[in-house]
Amino acid sequence: MQRLDKFLCDRNIGSRSQVKGCIRQGMVKVNGETVCRPEAKIEEEQDRVEYCGEVLKYQKHAYYMLNKPAGVVSATRDRSCQTVTDLLKETGHVDLFPAGRLDKDTEGLLLMTNDGELAHRLLSPRKHVEKVYYCELELPLSEQDISRLEEGVDIGEGRLTQPAKVEKTGERSIHLAITEGKFHQVKRMLLAVGNRVSYLKRIAMGSLVLDEGLKPGDWRELTEEEIKSLKG
Ligand code: URA
Repeated sequence: MQRLDKFLCDRNIGSRSQVKGCIRQGMVKVNGETVCRPEAKIEEEQDRVEYCGEVLKYQKHAYYMLNKPAGVVSATRDRSCQTVTDLLKETGHVDLFPAGRLDKDTEGLLLMTNDGELAHRLLSPRKHVEKVYYCELELPLSEQDISRLEEGVDIGEGRLTQPAKVEKTGERSIHLAITEGKFHQVKRMLLAVGNRVSYLKRIAMGSLVLDEGLKPGDWRELTEEEIKSLKG
């Protein structure tokens, strides 16, 4: 059971107060009957809720794609810095967390969700989920450096990194695909071949690809297809 206004908020119809107004105005039907009380309880998995004639499907979990901007930390709270969850406050979801971390100065794709099971699966080292990064480098990368990155490099973890895929996109830029997620992994891999990352952006994680239309700081809900293919 859930309050009607919360159900509508969770479906991104508006803020709690906006949603209450819509309900009081008679814009919401439950099982064909107009319900004007925001506090009315519904059986969210069974009841048919309509907002302005559109049926709102129940979703147990929420999934958002964020283009993380530099300067924001990948955490749910922080004493002094803005966090990625602060950026999604207006969704009304209070239980979102980032599935994985990007460094404070890294930009790009971050899945924000309240689905712990999916996050666990995506982040489990045993699942080898591929993450693709666009990296700008301080120095040009030689063919030998590329081979070393592809074979695995020593980043001080007691064993070489798993084989990576490298695609040169410019004189000093690459796409690097890795299946691990060690602390500062990409920066440390490039340091291991005598280079340095000057700009880093994650562009894909598993089947999920950063929407080019999202500017840093922007977010959107995942589509049903994106959710389905992430869940595999
Ligand atoms: N590797 C890094 O070095 N930093 C990130 O933010 C992500 C991967």
